Amino acid sequence: MDRVTERVDFLVIGAGIAGLSAAIRLASVGRVLVVTKEELAESNTAYAQGGIAVAMGGEEDVALHLEDTMAAGDGLVNREAAAMLVEQGPRRVEELLEWGTAFDRYPAGEGGELMRTREGAHSRSRILHANGDATGKEIAVSLLRHVRGMESIELMEWTTSVDLVVEDGRVVGATLLDGEGGLLVVRARAVLLASGGAGQVYSDTTNPAVATGDGIAMAYRGGAAVSDMEFYQFHPTAFTAPGAPRFLMSEALRGEGAYLVNAAGERFMERYHPLLELAPRDVVARAITREGKDGTVYLDMRHVKKDLKARFPGISRFLAQYHLELGRDLIPVRPAAHYLMGGVRTDVHGRTSLPGLYAAGEAACTGVHGANRLASNSLLEGLVFGALAAETMIAEAPGESDAARLLVVPEVAAGGVTSEAATERWIADLRELMWKDAGLLRDADGLRSAQRGLDALAAAMPRGLYRRAVEARNLHGVASVIVASALGREESRGAHFRNDFPHKDAVAKHSVMQRGMLEFVG
Ligand code: SIN
Repeated sequence: MDRVTERVDFLVIGAGIAGLSAAIRLASVGRVLVVTKEELAESNTAYAQGGIAVAMGGEEDVALHLEDTMAAGDGLVNREAAAMLVEQGPRRVEELLEWGTAFDRYPAGEGGELMRTREGAHSRSRILHANGDATGKEIAVSLLRHVRGMESIELMEWTTSVDLVVEDGRVVGATLLDGEGGLLVVRARAVLLASGGAGQVYSDTTNPAVATGDGIAMAYRGGAAVSDMEFYQFHPTAFTAPGAPRFLMSEALRGEGAYLVNAAGERFMERYHPLLELAPRDVVARAITREGKDGTVYLDMRHVKKDLKARFPGISRFLAQYHLELGRDLIPVRPAAHYLMGGVRTDVHGRTSLPGLYAAGEAACTGVHGANRLASNSLLEGLVFGALAAETMIAEAPGESDAARLLVVPEVAAGGVTSEAATERWIADLRELMWKDAGLLRDADGLRSAQRGLDALAAAMPRGLYRRAVEARNLHGVASVIVASALGREESRGAHFRNDFPHKDAVAKHSVMQRGMLEFVG
């Protein structure tokens, strides 16, 4: 296998909103390599439908956005991080507008103002959207257009990150697999993990195939602390039909008036929360699990007198394949894994517990979302914390090292090679067991069963240096930390619900896991 060593100033792993937001800043001081596993357009960012929450309505709106974020996070939000998010958000979104992001606007004859919608647990309509329900895609496209014009950024597609390279306790680079299976070792003055979430750890997810928690798993293996991994947000309304993908039915549908009804045609959210269909996501997801026949309920927009095809073109196109139409039919939905509030533990400046390693976006855990993320706060998170991490990297990165060529053989390469078919079966088993035993409603028996299942899978871990084997190892790493943290948290808070511990502790603590040790810190 080829082994080539490359040197860059900054290595950015992930080309979603956090990675690109950082790369744009890093490019002003050095050579930046941005790597991504598939095409540049394929990231969780590009799948975000609903929008980007941003308080552009002045100080009162900023204060309310902060309070909404704090309330959704169920006592665990890091207030400093949330304040930075909502205060710096408007400036970062102004930048996006300057770079050409075309958020939806009212017609020029009606003032041409930006359109704003409302989603669950927001006290105001402050969510910008683009092309109706393709906000993430529009942002990704405009960021990429901007980045492509910058000479010091190199973009590398179809590249899988395998492991961090740690020398004397400092992260100095990473091993990568290129599209042809060649091994590349990249040395960098600082490394940013912006590799997104890990929805693929569950059999049912709204996330694309690339979301296998690579950055989090690599960081954890490298010795970094991860935090709050038990808090996985299950989006309440992913489409469900035999053989159909778990396509997201955006919360914006409820923002535009959709009801949730059970199989008897009754609205049921009044039994669960005063905000009804716009209650926090964890509340809605659990209500659906309780009300639904096989967990399935229906979105009902038959009473909504709006041009829903124009407002939700992507969703409408998807539903048409199943001969369904918003405004005419009941749309079957049930929850699916959507967003990881936990991740690599960082401060608000993107620093992890390992020198040289930074993280931003869904791969990171600043505590900004606490135990449950407020709808449409994640694109803003990537934008704001990607920029902040880049500023820190610029300030702290050491000068270029003249250390000898790195010779690194990733651990995963040792031994034989598991067939791709066997690896796929192994991954499917892991995802099923996580859904069954570490999903929306948890208890000690289920979580212990998940641990036994993961131990059995560890004994048959796929071997070989190819993308799916690397992903299998990463999924296993992330799943193991989720289960250990969920078992350790003997309370119910935000997205983490224990049937055997339904109460909430008086004091909210973050879980922190590092080198196999779990602790809870205030
Ligand atoms: C949605 O459109 O419902 C997803 C937005 C988000 O996850 O914040």
